[in-house]
Amino acid sequence: MKHIYLNNAATTWPKPPAVADAVYRFMTQDGANASRGSASERDLKSLGLLFAVREQAAEMFGGYEDAAPQYVTFTQNVTHSLNIVLKGYLKRGMRVLTTSVEHNSVIRPLRELETGGVRVEIMRCSAKGFLSPKTLDEALKEHADMVVMTHCSNVSGSLQPIEEAALICAKRVVPLVVDCAQTAGIIDINAKDLGLSALCFTGHKGLMGPQGTGGIVWKPDFAEKCSPLAVGGTGSLSHEETQPGLMPDKFEAGTPNLPGLAGLNAAFEYLKDKTPAAIAETERKLGERLEEGLLRIDGLHIAGAVRGEGPRLPVYSFNIDGKDNGILARNLSDVFGIESRPGLHCSPLAHRTLGTFPQGALRLSPGCFNTAEEIDMTVEAVRELQKRS
Ligand SMILES: Cc1ncc(COP(=O)(O)O)c(C=O)c1O
Repeated sequence: MKHIYLNNAATTWPKPPAVADAVYRFMTQDGANASRGSASERDLKSLGLLFAVREQAAEMFGGYEDAAPQYVTFTQNVTHSLNIVLKGYLKRGMRVLTTSVEHNSVIRPLRELETGGVRVEIMRCSAKGFLSPKTLDEALKEHADMVVMTHCSNVSGSLQPIEEAALICAKRVVPLVVDCAQTAGIIDINAKDLGLSALCFTGHKGLMGPQGTGGIVWKPDFAEKCSPLAVGGTGSLSHEETQPGLMPDKFEAGTPNLPGLAGLNAAFEYLKDKTPAAIAETERKLGERLEEGLLRIDGLHIAGAVRGEGPRLPVYSFNIDGKDNGILARNLSDVFGIESRPGLHCSPLAHRTLGTFPQGALRLSPGCFNTAEEIDMTVEAVRELQKRS
């Protein structure tokens, strides 16, 4: 049976071979810790790796002048990045705004902070999954201490008007934090040009790096106002019993995921060569083909924008009348070898907004290694399952 992977919104797969090779090379040849050795050649190589991958991230995401790359923090994933930023900045009595299509990686830290006296307000998105800039502008008539929002919904693929949001936040001098989980490596976003306080990314989706990697690109003065989530050894200022305030050490206690970062470094190189724009175009075409095919299936309803109703990435969640999306996913996998993701996608709020709560939806998310033939086979498989009683 042919195997078709259509769950790239969860993690991209396969990874470019150079990524796996870099992880293997680090584990079998290099392997020294960073800033925690005798400054041997291997020690310096690890330090060099960290510096190189920080530079790559600063270059891709628009690190702030004179600050990049030390204002790039490496984390385990975007969930970890968001926890560092939200818990490091928001205090009792502060007001934070977010949207109604957020992933639980934003909502759960905010709900936890709410129990500590932070005021959390959710701005309603349209039933197609878009935040209107007017809604943000209106909400900011009252003072807010932060806006945190996703760049793209992992359920509807809706792209948020991040440039307008950045302008509105800049006008009111409100820190804007963006979750780039679905867009990093696919859509150009420049933290410095947009004036973002923190751009949070994960390494294993559009960046095509290994799981267990992610990061934050900080606006320097904002990083200074945040306290670290974890403190401990940094390999620097070891005579001090308190966490160093210097970057990047401030937010990076403990040994970093060096094999993962070696892979991420190779992934950045791969992206530079192939270019995010070309990858996005390949994925856009595959998405359009999928959308056209799905829309021709009786009783199938796609959540979010279709037929050019709004800007989106090829992340398609849908239901079929009378069918359970979990059973559909199981049958797609068992009968046709197609990997998808059913359910609520860690985004119950997005499903409420899109009208697909509590049942969730079946999500298909092509990546740049899929082919038109695979998309056609998938559409046929969904059609076949729709017809079955
Ligand atoms: C919009 C969005 N935010 C956050 C996350 C969490 O990503 P990670 O598990 O890499 O932290 C995801 C993952 O699906 C996502 O799509």
